[in-house]
Amino acid sequence: MNNPINRRVLLIDDTPAIHDDFRKILTPKTGDSADLDAMESALFGSAPKNATTVFELDSAYGGQEGLGKLLEAASKGQPYALAFVDMRMPDGWDGAQTIEELWKHDPLLQVVVCTAYSDYSWDELLDRLNGHDRLLILKKPFDNIEVQQMANTLTTKWEMTLRAQLQMSELEERVEQRTLALTQASTALQREIDERKLLESQLVQSEKLASLGQLAAGVAHEINNPIGFISSNLGALDNYFKHLQEMLQAYVSAEDGVAASELRDQLKQLRTDIELDFLLEDIPLLIKESKDGIGRVSQIVRDLKDFSRVDSTQEWQWTDLQQGIDSTLNIVAAEIKYKADVVKEYSELPEIECLPSQINQVVMNLVVNAAQAMGNQRGTITLRNGVEGENVWIEVADNGSGIPPDSLQKIFDPFFTTKPVGQGTGLGLSLSYGIVKKHRGDISVRSEVGVGTTFRVELPVHQSRKAG
Ligand SMILES: Nc1ncnc2c1ncn2[C@@H]1O[C@H](COP(=O)(O)OP(=O)(O)OP(=O)(O)O)[C@@H](O)[C@H]1O
Ligand SMILES: [Mg+2]
Repeated sequence: MNNPINRRVLLIDDTPAIHDDFRKILTPKTGDSADLDAMESALFGSAPKNATTVFELDSAYGGQEGLGKLLEAASKGQPYALAFVDMRMPDGWDGAQTIEELWKHDPLLQVVVCTAYSDYSWDELLDRLNGHDRLLILKKPFDNIEVQQMANTLTTKWEMTLRAQLQMSELEERVEQRTLALTQASTALQREIDERKLLESQLVQSEKLASLGQLAAGVAHEINNPIGFISSNLGALDNYFKHLQEMLQAYVSAEDGVAASELRDQLKQLRTDIELDFLLEDIPLLIKESKDGIGRVSQIVRDLKDFSRVDSTQEWQWTDLQQGIDSTLNIVAAEIKYKADVVKEYSELPEIECLPSQINQVVMNLVVNAAQAMGNQRGTITLRNGVEGENVWIEVADNGSGIPPDSLQKIFDPFFTTKPVGQGTGLGLSLSYGIVKKHRGDISVRSEVGVGTTFRVELPVHQSRKAG
């Protein structure tokens, strides 16, 4: 502490003579002693003695006045470091109350109680003021050096306490800043981890789709050939059988004309044994069913090809989306008319750049799914659309069964279906997902079991931004 800054002392005592004594002790006439010291060092060649520290002493003659001085000093930004307070002051506050009031306004103030005798026991006083570590007692009559040393050490203590407090709050601020920086860093890290997780799962998803796409394309290609000859063979078989039927019919009619009765009986027996009538009836049905079946297989192959994006020879066109939706609704009308009413909440849409037949396919899948989600009760399918910035959006909402949360993550997976065998291939949504992604758009779903499901498709109006 080489340059003490605050030597301001307040004396509160109702006896004027005490003030004179303190003034002599704490504010000696600098001229006398400093001159003497200088002469002494000049005469004897010794280093000058440390000049007695000079204090700034203010006087108050009662507790209230003392508090007034303290407040005034504080308001000027020149607080006292130390107060000497007389214990016994018959008018107004006594010493204990005065100290209490002073500390209420300035807890940093160092205090010395001056007393010859007290109305309190010391323990009582220290307890009352909670002053075990900040209150000194100076018993009258006092020694000059005692007063001087108290003033010296306590003003220094005041300054050290102040510095400690400043350092403490600086430290606290630094800790707070560090904590804030750490929290921010950890939030940023967490965000990065989350983003990475999301990217990873998207990557896994797209890799899964890509490999399934390749597999599907391969399978579709392999199956296409046999489907081709099976269905053309079935066509030929159907045709040939019609001739055979005629021929057999002719044989049956000719049967009675066979002269050899044994042979005639044999033919009749054979006809009954093989149930010729039933065969003639059933074979065309079997052929028809097989043709239907192979028709379905080739539809699946076409879907698979679309899904894997082979065969994509289509052209990008500017299209009125609403018109496409309406024509799609017409195509699937038979699928939905017994299950749901269709409500259209359309708004004006700009034409968008797209592959129209593929977008129609998306709408068809969503509408058919919505119809299939209805239970026994007739439901409602609501079609909405709108524009948002550079995108248009379509929503297909139903009040059907809803999708349970654990299925929700899988519905875009190829072959995921909850429908009975023969009714669903589980390709509808994965195809739709692929198509929407090809358009640089997005498809999302909200669903609540027992309430319904809403699919939302967002598509950019422009496919490629023109430079500039
Ligand atoms: N609107 C909906 N309401 C309830 N569940 C739905 C809805 N749309 C899709 N799902 C669920 O998602 C599954 C997958 O749908 P997706 O269209 O891909 O296949 P699918 O309808 O089962 O068969 P496909 O469309 O190939 O005939 C459905 O089986 C069904 O469980
Ligand atoms: Mg479907």
